Amino acid sequence: MAHLWSGRFAGDPDAELFAFGSSFRFDRRLFEDDVRGSRAWAAGLARAGVLSAGDAAAIEEGLAQILQKGMDDAGFVTPDHGDEDVHAFVERELITRIGDAGRRLHTGRSRNEQVAVDLRLYLKRRIPDVQRAIAATIAQFVELADRAGDALMPSYTHLRRAQPVLVSHFLLSHCAALRRDVDRLGAVLHEVDELPLGSGAIAGTAYPIDVTGLAEALGFTRIARNSIDVSGDRDFVASFLHAASLGMVHLSRIAEDFILFTSEEFGFFELSDAAATGSSLMPQKKNPDPLELVRGKSGRVVGHLTGWLVTMKGLPAGYNKDLQEDKEALFDAEDTWVGCLRAVSSVIGGLTPNAATSARAAAGLLLATDVADYLVAKGLPFRDAHEVVGALVRRLLNEGRTFDELSPAEWRQHSPLFGDDVRQAITPLASIQKKQTPQSTSPAAVAAALADTKDWLARQLPHK
Ligand code: ARG
Repeated sequence: MAHLWSGRFAGDPDAELFAFGSSFRFDRRLFEDDVRGSRAWAAGLARAGVLSAGDAAAIEEGLAQILQKGMDDAGFVTPDHGDEDVHAFVERELITRIGDAGRRLHTGRSRNEQVAVDLRLYLKRRIPDVQRAIAATIAQFVELADRAGDALMPSYTHLRRAQPVLVSHFLLSHCAALRRDVDRLGAVLHEVDELPLGSGAIAGTAYPIDVTGLAEALGFTRIARNSIDVSGDRDFVASFLHAASLGMVHLSRIAEDFILFTSEEFGFFELSDAAATGSSLMPQKKNPDPLELVRGKSGRVVGHLTGWLVTMKGLPAGYNKDLQEDKEALFDAEDTWVGCLRAVSSVIGGLTPNAATSARAAAGLLLATDVADYLVAKGLPFRDAHEVVGALVRRLLNEGRTFDELSPAEWRQHSPLFGDDVRQAITPLASIQKKQTPQSTSPAAVAAALADTKDWLARQLPHK
């Protein structure tokens, strides 16, 4: 078979080496982007007077047919014909359909910029889908927060009980991280929004192409600054992989929290039967497999980022075939991320809060900060209050008791500032109600945060 570059060679490439270098197996995912880029390029060539109106019309018609066939027939864009990559596939199909006019399409253009434009077009259409999948996960958290109502739980630092919080406050903490992921993808979209065409193989193109018009036609707002840079630039792939890695780190931490909080030891939430699996041996087991898999898959996405940075780091300026490695990393990261978002959404959607259990864990010595604040309100410097309460905690630990079991006289043994009002002041509910700042767990602040998240959700792109 003749390849796009066969003219220069006396013999055929080694079949195994050709297969080794071929990317069609995975870059056929760029099919519609490649056709789109080629349609715009043909129109650009025609506007520049390089293609006759007749040839341009034939190319447009041929590419439209190819796109249609690709959409209608799932078996059409397949590696059966021995094409090297998706660009070769589309060009061969075009020439088969329209002959000579098709052979003029590649005038002034290179696959080096073609693959760059395809990948950018691909991300421009796929990133919004990933953003929607993140928003759908946030929606499940919001729904669970509504169901949790005014339930309390402990918050943790060092995985030791820290202070009481509303369960909804904990749930919204994960929404905050997920919203950053949406924003980060917005920044990747901005980076991607640059037209590489007009760069040729590396030095630019010798035809008077109106790149501004081409950018407009393809929906890019900026033109690449430098043709050499275009040829070898895959920074935007690294940026996407970074966004995906952090997104997966967030999902992994979510998974870890719910693996813990649905365990017998915590029991703050009950996992739905649909989101768990049993043991082949131990009849009592209800395992959180989907969450464990999400946590596990984060490793491979972080691996794609690391691998890709290492691939880029030693490359000389301009295109190098190493760059072909970008696509499998990118596609797998995207698939893994979206798959994990769906899994997490479904697990979160099936959780039942166990308010009684989590509230029980939110009472006891984790109110120590509130006791110290009580003394501060009576005028004691905080550092002194901390010491008083520290001693009190030591005593209670020795005696196996908690604050609410102390008599007024026992309180006063530790400080004369403790009045009879201390009993009502030191409860989990009083603790959250005392919080004052907008990012705190005060019920008013959490209600506002929940409303804000719902507002944000309503402003996200609707599902297609
Ligand atoms: N399949 C190639 C890639 O993914 C397309 C660019 C090929 N360019 C070249 N000069 N061989 O990078």
